[in-house]
Amino acid sequence: MSTVVLIGAQWGDEGKGKVTDFLAEKADLVVRYQGGNNAGHTVVVDDREFKLHLIPSGILYPEKICIIGSGVVIDPEVLIKELESLQRRGINTGNLKISQRAHVIFPYHRLLDQVEEGRKGENKIGTTCRGIGPAYMDKSARVGIRMVDLVDREVFAGLLERNMEGKNHLLTKVYDSEALDLNSVLGAYNSYAETLKKYLADVSIIINDATKQGKNVLFEGAQGTLLDLDHGTYPYVTSSHPTAGAACLGAGIGPTRIDRVIGVAKAYTTRVGEGPFPTELSDDVGTFIQNRGGEFGTTTGRPRRCGWFDGVVGRYAVRINGLDYLAITKLDVLSGLEKVKICTSYRYRGELMEEFPASLRVLKECVPVYEELPGWQEDITGARSLEDLPPAARNYLERIEEISGAPIALVGVGSRRSQTILTASIYD
Ligand code: IMP
Repeated sequence: MSTVVLIGAQWGDEGKGKVTDFLAEKADLVVRYQGGNNAGHTVVVDDREFKLHLIPSGILYPEKICIIGSGVVIDPEVLIKELESLQRRGINTGNLKISQRAHVIFPYHRLLDQVEEGRKGENKIGTTCRGIGPAYMDKSARVGIRMVDLVDREVFAGLLERNMEGKNHLLTKVYDSEALDLNSVLGAYNSYAETLKKYLADVSIIINDATKQGKNVLFEGAQGTLLDLDHGTYPYVTSSHPTAGAACLGAGIGPTRIDRVIGVAKAYTTRVGEGPFPTELSDDVGTFIQNRGGEFGTTTGRPRRCGWFDGVVGRYAVRINGLDYLAITKLDVLSGLEKVKICTSYRYRGELMEEFPASLRVLKECVPVYEELPGWQEDITGARSLEDLPPAARNYLERIEEISGAPIALVGVGSRRSQTILTASIYD
């Protein structure tokens, strides 16, 4: 019985939804601990596709307890729509628990996200414009409103009035934008509170009790290591911590409770939004990967930038998250390529660089050093063990392990639950 943290080892969109869904089968609890509805997890169950933004992928199993931790920022309108859409499709949402301490996203957060991106012009971050950054800014500035405050009518009205006075001043005087109407926001959020209050709980108690009882707990990270506020390609990052350490804070458990950390990476690399991306491909291979992999954002529909697997990023993710294992997704997308490449290091102004640099100026100048490997032509979507894979695909995986420095526990060869090769035991 173990507690497992699953994180994205690249720039997000690594296919964590599918891996979480697969690992959730043996979990008792599935916990989201950071980010918000900037995330988009696509899960396919029996040919039915589900796109989840806030609710842990474990919800697709009727008996699992699914938790949204305090580190998540919640847009209640989006959460309610997601709940209703799942309920319409016959999914049991009765086992969802939401942290009382999670912060709430308001319309002024969304608006501020948009106007600030507009103001930045060419220097924009390329955010999802879901209000994520402004909501975390309020949390750090100690003026955020938490779920526990939202459902307390007396407290909530006062907090909202105070915040909206300041935000409307900012919107109209600084950004030359429209003011928002206090009463309509208050009315809408009071109604959201009525719908959501039955889900609220002190989730830290539930999670800690589960670990004491030896249950399997799966912590589901959103976004990826290189979008981490501290360790990502700052400032082209999100405003939370998609790295493994955040599971403790965002769930309300101590580091001693974590048994295993798994990093999910695609067999290649993708990125949405702005910022440097050394192995990006702007040729036919990039287009091939984009079309074959369906690389368009789940949340915004934006085309994802595509490139070769970056082993420098892989090593970095292993170090920052203390990865025990890698899970490699979408290996099938690379079938049909004559050659495949893995970036083993960068060349910066003539020097070989083995580690991921902190400076974006340096990263922009880094030229990937590639190892070229033979590709494979076979359709591998039916492979269920490593032995079913062509030798070239196995060799490719072995090189990813060696270059990144962590063994592979799972390989994805298609979007369905069953299209998964498990090579190590995840829960003891
Ligand atoms: P924000 O999280 O909306 O503030 O966006 C900040 C950056 O993170 C932008 O580059 C987004 O494209 C990126 N981002 C946020 N969420 C995701 C995700 O779930 N997958 C991939 N990129 C994301």
